Amino acid sequence: MPQKASWNSQQTTEDRSLQQTLSSKGKLPKHIAIIMDGNGRWAEKQGFSRVAGHKEGIESVRDIVKASSQLGIKFLTLYAFSIENWNRPMTEVGSLMKLLELYLRQEIEELHKNNVRLTSIGKISSLPKTVQKLLNNAYQQTKDNTGLTLTLALSYGSRWDIVRAVQMIALDVRRGKLSPEDISEELFPKYLQTADMPDPDLLIRTSGEVRLSNFLLWEMAYGEMYILDKYWPEFRREDLYSAIENFLNRERRFGKTSLQINPSEAEKTKDSMLMRVVNAITSV
Ligand code: FPP
Repeated sequence: MPQKASWNSQQTTEDRSLQQTLSSKGKLPKHIAIIMDGNGRWAEKQGFSRVAGHKEGIESVRDIVKASSQLGIKFLTLYAFSIENWNRPMTEVGSLMKLLELYLRQEIEELHKNNVRLTSIGKISSLPKTVQKLLNNAYQQTKDNTGLTLTLALSYGSRWDIVRAVQMIALDVRRGKLSPEDISEELFPKYLQTADMPDPDLLIRTSGEVRLSNFLLWEMAYGEMYILDKYWPEFRREDLYSAIENFLNRERRFGKTSLQINPSEAEKTKDSMLMRVVNAITSV
């Protein structure tokens, strides 16, 4: 097979400059999570089968993974198949599994060459054996890579993960490894499948729906959400840049006040109040 050039060497000057401008505007999100929604509706609108929508969705996955890696984003988590998606018609589930298999077969070399580490979250044991094997090979092959960590959420449900964590904690209490008092907000997420990654800073959802759909419920306590009206197969890197730009203009307060977050603003306010008092006194 002919060797493909690395992603950085393929980048156009215009795109590089767009990315540099974005990076100069502030601290980029460390972790971006995406609910890739609207493949079916996109396909139906074009008069195609739903599977054609999923196929086109893979083109969006390719572009977004590449752009995130080029931007230096450390974690990208894609909701590729929810635990509830098993309830879809068998033919659609079968096609999605085949597409996943194809993606893993075709992309791993390129991901590896570009320093991407592939991981997954979800009930992986319920996936077809071929997919499980490909995933295991991919984890092994890419485990020491230090660039983007690409996590595929497969047969994933956040409630499932939370219940699983509670069961493991209960077992540790029963074995005497933990006492109930040890269970805290810091300890609990160590039992989630996302334990090794920071919480998402930004969650993007395509197709205009405003809900989390059982995705990263615990982890998104303070994550910023960006919803856009495009279907996933239409989503490209320019849309990712808009989402990041929007994120950079937000003030993340984590329950605090604006002045606590921006002490320099607080100083400015204090100074101007002082000036007003001085002015009032001197004008008497
Ligand atoms: C949601 O659209 C999308 C999915 C359930 C599957 C997402 C899968 C892909 C993008 C392709 C495979 C991914 C990888 C990483 C190889 P929908 O079908 O719910 O659309 P609808 O809401 O319009 O029906």
